[in-house]
Amino acid sequence: MDIKGHAAIVTGGGSGLGAATARALAAAGAKVALLDVNMDGAEALAREIGGKAFKCDVSSATDAEAAVAAAKATHGAARVLVNCAGVATPGRIVGKDGPLKLDAFRRVVEINLIGTFNLMRLAGADMQSLAPLADGERGVIVSTASVAAFEGQIGQAAYASSKGAVAALTLPAAREFARSGVRVLAIAPGLFATPMLLGMTQEIQDSLAAAIPYPNRFGKPEEYAGLVMHMIANVMLNGEVIRLDGAIRLQPK
Ligand SMILES: NC(=O)c1ccc[n+]([C@@H]2O[C@H](COP(=O)([O-])OP(=O)(O)OC[C@H]3O[C@@H](n4cnc5c(N)ncnc54)[C@H](O)[C@@H]3O)[C@@H](O)[C@H]2O)c1
Repeated sequence: MDIKGHAAIVTGGGSGLGAATARALAAAGAKVALLDVNMDGAEALAREIGGKAFKCDVSSATDAEAAVAAAKATHGAARVLVNCAGVATPGRIVGKDGPLKLDAFRRVVEINLIGTFNLMRLAGADMQSLAPLADGERGVIVSTASVAAFEGQIGQAAYASSKGAVAALTLPAAREFARSGVRVLAIAPGLFATPMLLGMTQEIQDSLAAAIPYPNRFGKPEEYAGLVMHMIANVMLNGEVIRLDGAIRLQPK
């Protein structure tokens, strides 16, 4: 799909991978709506790229319904949804203070998995109502899993479960939406230089970076955005989860 002139929604667009994707979409001529709980970041970026920021906790049905409706009223129904909102709150199943709080596990799953599904259902419904473009294509949905979906580390029980489910959601959604010409894909990033990672101590960052075979550094958010843009452009890509990770395979810890 040529995204020029079409509407796009990016969740978690106020920071990191979502912000880089929003910049790339705007540079390609898309009308970009940024959905985030971090309104400072989302509004600053919206000003920079000529987009629009909407406050939205992706795990809330009412928030997402209101934000998608408001984005549609501003830009028209979105042809592209990129799900980047996410949290990586760590915690052992049984830590030194006892069992992980069930609500801590639930919150990670609610944001990463239910939030992804929440936007997929709403944006997907709007995409199905749009006129088909070349090849009968109506829309593209890209969600963000993680290499932790496949090699979750100790302390990543909630995160890895949520991201494994995002990966597993991709094929059934692509199969269901195929008849409408809506493609569904996911990216499983390795380690990317965003506030999520750069918030860790330098020692942890150095040990993480050392484990990446090639290139031996953190990924740049623009490299993630580059894959999103290719996924949008290449109509043959569908129903797949693509690792973007410099060949890293996470170790147990
Ligand atoms: N950075 C990495 O190395 C890496 C690796 C693998 C996967 N990921 C995934 O990529 C995605 C983007 O992460 P990032 O590194 O850019 O992190 P980030 O912290 O820079 O950005 C995440 C954004 O999501 C927003 N957010 C959090 N909870 C939300 C909610 N309930 N509703 C709406 N917005 C919410 C935050 O406010 C923030 O703007 C996440 O899903 C993350 O799990 C990141």
